[in-house]
Amino acid sequence: MRPTQAKDHPADTPPPVPRLVAPSGSSPRRGRPGGSAAAAAHGGSGPEGLVLPAVEPDAVDTDVPAAVGHVLDRLLADRLSRAGVLDDTFARELVGRVARFTKEGGKRTRSQLVWWSMRACGGADESTATAALRIGAALELLQTCALVHDDLMDGSTLRRGRPAMHTDVRERYSGVASPTRVARFGEAAAILAGDLALAWADDVVADSALDPCTASVVRRLWSDMRMEMVAGQFLDLQGQLTASRSLPHALRAACLKSALYSVGRPLVLGAAVAGADGRTMRALGAAGRRVGTAFQLRDDLDDVFGDPRRTGKSCGGDIREGKPTYLVALAVARAERKGDRPALEVLRRALDGEGRTPEALEEVREVLVRTGARAAVEEQIGRLSAQGLRHFDGARLGAADARGRLRGLLAAATSSGAAGSPPSHARPAPAFAPVGSGTPEAGR
Ligand code: IPE
Ligand code: MG
Ligand code: MG
Ligand code: MG
Repeated sequence: MRPTQAKDHPADTPPPVPRLVAPSGSSPRRGRPGGSAAAAAHGGSGPEGLVLPAVEPDAVDTDVPAAVGHVLDRLLADRLSRAGVLDDTFARELVGRVARFTKEGGKRTRSQLVWWSMRACGGADESTATAALRIGAALELLQTCALVHDDLMDGSTLRRGRPAMHTDVRERYSGVASPTRVARFGEAAAILAGDLALAWADDVVADSALDPCTASVVRRLWSDMRMEMVAGQFLDLQGQLTASRSLPHALRAACLKSALYSVGRPLVLGAAVAGADGRTMRALGAAGRRVGTAFQLRDDLDDVFGDPRRTGKSCGGDIREGKPTYLVALAVARAERKGDRPALEVLRRALDGEGRTPEALEEVREVLVRTGARAAVEEQIGRLSAQGLRHFDGARLGAADARGRLRGLLAAATSSGAAGSPPSHARPAPAFAPVGSGTPEAGR
C-alpha cells in the first residue's frame, strides 16, 4: 500500500492552525518550579502532559521495565493524540514510528540503572520513585534519538532485529519517487524522528517534580550527558573520516559516545534523585564510567564476532564503515610493534573503508585474533568491569537488596550480547531476574 497524502489546502489559503488541546486528565500546572512531591506522586501534570498515578516503590521493584514501559505508554499516547490534532500523516508516519520504536524495543537497561541506583541510595518515598521513573523514561527516549541518529550516521540498516528507522521509512515509500529521493527522505525522516524523541526526553526531565536543589543537579547532569554523547559521536565519526589509529582517541570516543549515557550518568542520576551525597555520586560515577567503557568495548567485539540473532544488528558494520574502534586501533598498535606488515595492510584497508566484502571482513577477523587484539580487549573488559565493581563496592550503599540488584546489572552489562537487543518476540529475557537467579540482560 502506498502512503496516503495529507489533505491538500488551496495554495493561497494557509491551512488552519489547529488548537492544541490538553490531553484528557491533565490539569493546569500550579506551583512551579519543581512542583510538589505530592503532585508528583498523585499525578501532577506539566506542559509535557504526562500524568502519572501514584507510584508505589515496592511494586515497581517487582518489574521495573514494565513500570517504565507504563510511563512511556502514557507519554507516547499523549504525543500521538497531540500530533493527530496537527496532522494525520505526521502522526501516523513519524510519531507512530517513534512511539513504536521506543515501546517495542530495548531492554530498559538505563532506566533500570536509574531505578536501582535510586533505591540503593535509599530512595523510598513516592515522589522520589516517580521522579526516578520519569528520568528512566526520559533516558529511553534519549536512547531512541541516539540509536535512530546513530544508524543513519553509521549506515546501519538493522536495529533490534528490524529495519533501522531510515531504512523502514525508505522501504515504506519505495517506488514513490526515484530511489535517491526516497532514500534522502528516509534519512530526513530519521533526523526528525530522533529530534522528536530528544525533545520529548527533555520535556520529561524539565517537568519532573523535584525540590529546586535536586532539580538543578538533575538538569545539569542531564545537560552534561547530552553533550557528552554528541561529543562522543562526533569523535567517532571524525576518527572514521581521518582513519585515526590513536588508542586514546578510540577510548575517549567509546567513553563519551556510550559509557556515560549508558551506565555512568544513569547511576549518578538515580543517586541524585535520591539525594545522595557527593562522595556516593562520585563513586557511582567512577564505577559507571568503567563498566560503561567495558560495555562499549564489548559492543565493539560483538560487532565483529557477535551473533546478529542476539545483538539484533548486522555483523561487521564497524569494519565495513572503517570505524577506528579501540579493538582495531589496538590491532594496529600490536601489528606495528611486531612488524606484521600483512596485518597492517589488512587493517589499513579496513580503516580506509575498503573492507566492505565478506572476504575482507573475514581477513580482518583473522588479523584481530592473530595480533592478540581480540584477547587483549577481552582482558581489558574484565579489568574495567572489575575496577568498576570495586568503585561500586566502595560507595558503601546501604539498601542491601537494591545494591545486589544494581551490582548484578553492572556485572551483566559487559557480557556478550549485552550491548544489543534482538526483536522483542525473540527475546527470552524475564522482565528482571531476581537476585541470584541468573543473568539479567543489559544492552541498547
Ligand atoms: C553508538 O555506538 C552509541 C550511541 C548510540 C550514542 P555504536 O555505533 O557502536 O552503537 P551500535 O553498535 O550501532 O549499537
Ligand atoms: Mg552504530
Ligand atoms: Mg555509531
Ligand atoms: Mg557498535
